[in-house]
Amino acid sequence: MIQIKRRAELEVMAEAARVNREAMDAVAAAVGVGVTTRELNAIAEDAIVSRGGRPAFKGYGGGHGTPPYPGTLCTSVNEVVVHGIPDDRRLADGDIVSVDIGTFYRGFAADLARTFPIGEVPEEARRLIATTEASLVAGIEAAQVGHRLGDVSAAIQAVVEAEGFWVVREFVGHGIGRAFHEDPEVPNYGRAGTGPVLRPGLVLAIEPMVSTRSTRVVVGDDGWAASTADGSLAAHVEHTVAVTEDGPWVLTARTDRATAVAAAPRR
Ligand code: CO
Repeated sequence: MIQIKRRAELEVMAEAARVNREAMDAVAAAVGVGVTTRELNAIAEDAIVSRGGRPAFKGYGGGHGTPPYPGTLCTSVNEVVVHGIPDDRRLADGDIVSVDIGTFYRGFAADLARTFPIGEVPEEARRLIATTEASLVAGIEAAQVGHRLGDVSAAIQAVVEAEGFWVVREFVGHGIGRAFHEDPEVPNYGRAGTGPVLRPGLVLAIEPMVSTRSTRVVVGDDGWAASTADGSLAAHVEHTVAVTEDGPWVLTARTDRATAVAAAPRR
């Protein structure tokens, strides 16, 4: 069932999103050549906990022989698409790392991901990151009252495929609120004009995952890290976005409400 949030609930979600975004800012300030993903995990956890939040991923899921997720962050390097577990690997010049952070704060969740280039990265990696970011922007711009969910999906897919890249199909975005994963699922591919109509108060975690080539995804021995089967590079970016009468409100972006509304496209 799709949950619609009242205005006051959106305001609290914006607070949760701010805590989550500040944790990402701390990671962004630290990320670079020679840093381990475990160090980034500790930085994010500190940022969340010191602000009164709770890491949303830690202890998530598990079962059927898979342990619950152990990290505050997902750190997915190069061919890892999502759910890379932080460890003692040092980030190296030329790597790309997708960092995904989730926070619970005052009863609500927020979800945010960015992909960082480490040092000097190949041109294709830069183009992959830029395209994945552009696809997220297109998806957000399509998240307007009265549009359909398929409009968001199709907008993302169009940007990715115009660059000759590939939408990863195995994972999708999601509704988000009091639960980390709510209805509806938000695929990064699909047909415009299909799916549920977007209403004010719907909050979506929109999260394109993109690889340089057409490939399947395989899950590693740790039960979590999901990598491209053929080793192609992958990027992942994400925002938590509220559908409002004033346009999409990107809760996890570094803007106040007024700026967010002013920047939102009108129809
Ligand atoms: Co998500």
